[in-house]
Amino acid sequence: MSDNDFDPNPSSTIRRLWPTDMDAYRAHLKRLDPDSRHARFGGGVSDQYIDTHVDSSLRMDTLLFGAFDKSKLIGVGELRLLFGEWPMAAEAAFSVERTYQDHGLGDALMARVMAAARNRGIIRLSMICLSHNERMRHLAHKHHAEFVTNDGETEVWIPSGSAIASTIIEETFGETGGLLNGLFQWTRMKMA
Ligand SMILES: CC(C)(COP(=O)(O)OP(=O)(O)OC[C@H]1O[C@@H](n2cnc3c(N)ncnc32)[C@H](O)[C@@H]1OP(=O)(O)O)[C@@H](O)C(=O)NCCC(=O)NCCS
Repeated sequence: MSDNDFDPNPSSTIRRLWPTDMDAYRAHLKRLDPDSRHARFGGGVSDQYIDTHVDSSLRMDTLLFGAFDKSKLIGVGELRLLFGEWPMAAEAAFSVERTYQDHGLGDALMARVMAAARNRGIIRLSMICLSHNERMRHLAHKHHAEFVTNDGETEVWIPSGSAIASTIIEETFGETGGLLNGLFQWTRMKMA
């Protein structure tokens, strides 16, 4: 990919994923290079493991946000609510394909996931994240979250506080922007 091919405006490329996007999610995770796949899942995993993971993300307790290059899904932020935990908690995970890394997509996906978490009263996010994952550490700090590692398990504490205007705007307007962008891409494809 050359930089000219890709619209680097992350906010316009992100939208919620739905059951119809699951094959694209599966394909995106399987396209991750070995290091990114390892970092995403906290270890080497097979394609079969990815299939099972994606099947389980169809549950109502999972919210997925996808970043697109035109119609290709190239990054995903995943939020799995953990019921029965107090304070309210969720698991989060992020993946951006190698050639699209360092374009701001992880940052934008994290903003969407953290806004969605806060809007649902969640203040504790856990991530399976390798302790030397400097990008994630940097992004967590950038979003004012605390990055705590215990026995290889990493927890991210979202600054306490419930939904505020900015997190509601982030989720609502982010979604509207993503839908409009999707419609624009679809119209361009039809007219081409
Ligand atoms: C982690 C990941 C999701 C980040 O996505 P990304 O699109 O590359 O991230 P962004 O471009 O938005 O931001 C990266 C930030 O890290 C910084 N960064 C890059 N390399 C760094 C390093 N070695 N040390 C510290 N910071 C670093 C960049 O400067 C940038 O910061 P800035 O926005 O303040 O300039 C992506 O790299 C990825 O999918 N990695 C493999 C899977 C993974 O590690 N998942 C996380 C575990 S769930």
